[in-house]
Amino acid sequence: MAKILICYYSRSGNTKKMAYLIQEGVMDEGSEVDTKDVKNVKVDDLKGYDGIIIGSPTYYGLMAAPVKDLLDRSIKLHGKLQDKVGGAFSSSANIGGGNETTVMAILQALMIHGMVICGDHRGDHYGPVSIEAPDKRVEKNCIMYGKRVAELTRKLHG
Ligand SMILES: Cc1cc2nc3c(=O)[nH]c(=O)nc-3n(C[C@H](O)[C@H](O)[C@H](O)COP(=O)(O)O)c2cc1C
Repeated sequence: MAKILICYYSRSGNTKKMAYLIQEGVMDEGSEVDTKDVKNVKVDDLKGYDGIIIGSPTYYGLMAAPVKDLLDRSIKLHGKLQDKVGGAFSSSANIGGGNETTVMAILQALMIHGMVICGDHRGDHYGPVSIEAPDKRVEKNCIMYGKRVAELTRKLHG
């Protein structure tokens, strides 16, 4: 069974809420999922998953430092995460406040690892984005995204 990690940083809870909505979608699809605060994720843990979805609040249009720190430390696994499925999500305060640039920055790092990025022709194209806490639109997109990443992961990794 495909195994997915949802890893998030969240200071005031908005990104965390998104993480658990994405988890719902992954579970609906029938895949195994762990949802963890980034502080509880060790770099070596990343090897144990077929899909990795990373969420961060938008800080100055980019990911928060604890998420960047995990990615920087993931150099230890350079070459070992190839072909795993990758995804990203973010909460910001403002429309146009940089949530998509945050998602793209996370995805860039995952691509450098050789991971397969899961876009979406519906919903939020690069990965779910929210203005502060998830509203109905975001809830739907997060659940849909979790399912979609899980489906792609199952196709690639069984
Ligand atoms: C240091 C810092 C930088 C931030 N930078 C931005 C920003 O560039 N654009 C934006 O729209 N919101 C910005 N915000 C607001 C957060 O992204 C927003 O409140 C988010 O929902 C917080 O997510 P959380 O509840 O998961 O911590 C910033 C907040 C902090 C604390």
